[in-house]
Amino acid sequence: MSDGAIRNAGIAENQVEPRSLRGSFPLSSQDIVEDTLTNYRRFINPSLALLMRVFSGGRVEARGQGVYVEDTEGRRYIDCLAGFGSISCGHAHPKIVAAVMEQLQLLPASTKVFFNKPLADLSKLLAEITPGDLQYSFICNSGAEAVEGALKLAKLFTKRTEIVFMEGAFHGKTLGALSVSGRNLYKQPFKPLLPHVRQVPFGDIEALTTAVTPNTAAVLLEPIQGEGGVNLSPEGYLQAAQAICQEAGALLIFDEVQTGFGRTGTLFECQQEGIVPDILVLAKALGGGVMPIGAFVATPRVWKAFKRHPLLHTSTFGGNPLACRAAVATIRVILEEKLPDRAQKLGKIFISELEAIRRRFPRIIAAVRGKGLLIGVELQKEGYGLTIFPEMVRRGVIAAFTLNNPKVIRFEPPLVITEDQIRQVIQVFEHAVKKADGLRGRLASVAFKIGQIAGLVEL
Ligand SMILES: Cc1ncc(COP(=O)(O)O)c(C=O)c1O
Repeated sequence: MSDGAIRNAGIAENQVEPRSLRGSFPLSSQDIVEDTLTNYRRFINPSLALLMRVFSGGRVEARGQGVYVEDTEGRRYIDCLAGFGSISCGHAHPKIVAAVMEQLQLLPASTKVFFNKPLADLSKLLAEITPGDLQYSFICNSGAEAVEGALKLAKLFTKRTEIVFMEGAFHGKTLGALSVSGRNLYKQPFKPLLPHVRQVPFGDIEALTTAVTPNTAAVLLEPIQGEGGVNLSPEGYLQAAQAICQEAGALLIFDEVQTGFGRTGTLFECQQEGIVPDILVLAKALGGGVMPIGAFVATPRVWKAFKRHPLLHTSTFGGNPLACRAAVATIRVILEEKLPDRAQKLGKIFISELEAIRRRFPRIIAAVRGKGLLIGVELQKEGYGLTIFPEMVRRGVIAAFTLNNPKVIRFEPPLVITEDQIRQVIQVFEHAVKKADGLRGRLASVAFKIGQIAGLVEL
C-alpha cells in the first residue's frame, strides 16, 4: 500500500513520528514479513496464518503509540480493535511504560516469600475504585484465569456445584471458563466439559428464575456481552439477576473483563445500573496494554471462604511486580485522563455516525449497537466482512469481528482516540461498506470456504 492510500483515507500523519526500522531489525522489512508469515505457517498454525493473511493482507506489526500502530513497512493504522479491547490507554502509554521500566530495574519477579508492595498497592486501589463493598482481590494473569478463580470461590463459599451462564457468553477458553461460555463451536471438541452448568438465554428473566435452584453456586454474566456480538442487557435485567441470586442464596458474578475500566462510560458497567456483584472479574485493560494481568475482586463476606484456606488458590506469576506496577499506573492514567467520560462522549458520536452508514447501506448492515466505545456493527451476512476488513486495513484502520458472533464487526479503539480520528475511521468504514455492497453475492460463498478452513464456521 502506498502512503497515498493512508492520505486518501484522511488519516492525519501526526502522533507517531515515522521512524526507520533499520537499526531495530537486521533484516529488510520484506524479509521480516516473509520470515514471520513462514514461521506462522510452519510453527504456529497454517490455518491461522491463512486467516490472518486474508484479514491483515500479510502485514506485520512493529510499533505503536496512542491509537496508532505501525507495520514493518512503516505504514500507520488507527487501531480500532486494540488487542480485543485491552489497550484502553493507547499503545505504549508513557506513564505505564515508565512504571514498568522502573520496576524492571528494581525487581521484575517476586520471591513469593517476602511481601510484594506493588501487589498490595494494586489490591488496595482495586478496593477503592470498585463499587460497594468489593474489597479483596486475587491477581492472576488473564481473563480466563480470573473466571476460573471466581468460579472456584463461588463453589467454595456456597458449598454448591451448579453454575448458570448465558447463551452467547464468552469467558475464555480454559476448560472451566469454556464450560460456561456460550458458543458450541469452541466447546464441542472438548466435551465432556465441567458438569453441573446450565445455559439460559441472555436477558430472559423468566428463564433465569427457572434455572436458579438451591444447588446454584453462582450466576455468571457479562453486563454487556462483548464477544457475543456486543449485546446490551435489557433494562432491569441485572437488578432481576441480583434479586434471583439473593433469593436462592447463590452468588452473582459479573465478568467485566471487556467492559471494565471505562470502556462503556463508567469505570465499571455495573455502576450504571447501581448493582454490586458478589464477585467482579477483571482483566484486559487493567494491564494498560503493557502487561498481561487479570483479577477477581469479592466482598469480605464471600472472601471468608478463602480466609480459611489462604493457599487453596495460588499462581506463580499472578501478582508479579511488573504487572501490578503496570495496573496501578493504568488505573491512575484512566482516572487522570478521565477516559470513562471520553468513552461516553465519543461513543455517542461514533454510534450515530455508524447508524447513518447503516441507513445508507441496509443491504450490508443489519444493526448498530453499543455503549461508550464498545460498539458492534451487525452485518446482514458474515461473508461481507471478508471485503470490509481487508479494505479497512488497506486504508489504515484495524478492526475485527466478535469471537462468538462473526457477523458482528466490533469497534473498540483505545479510549484516547479523538473525535477527528473517529471521523477518519467512519470515512474508511463507509468506503469499505460501499465496496462490499458492490460485491454482494459473490462474497458469501468465498467467505464460507475460508471460514471452513479456519474452523470459524459451524459445519
Ligand atoms: C468477557 C470476557 N471474559 C473473559 C475473557 C477471557 O480473557 P482472556 O482472553 O484474557 O483469557 C474475555 C476475552 O475476550 C472476555 O471478553
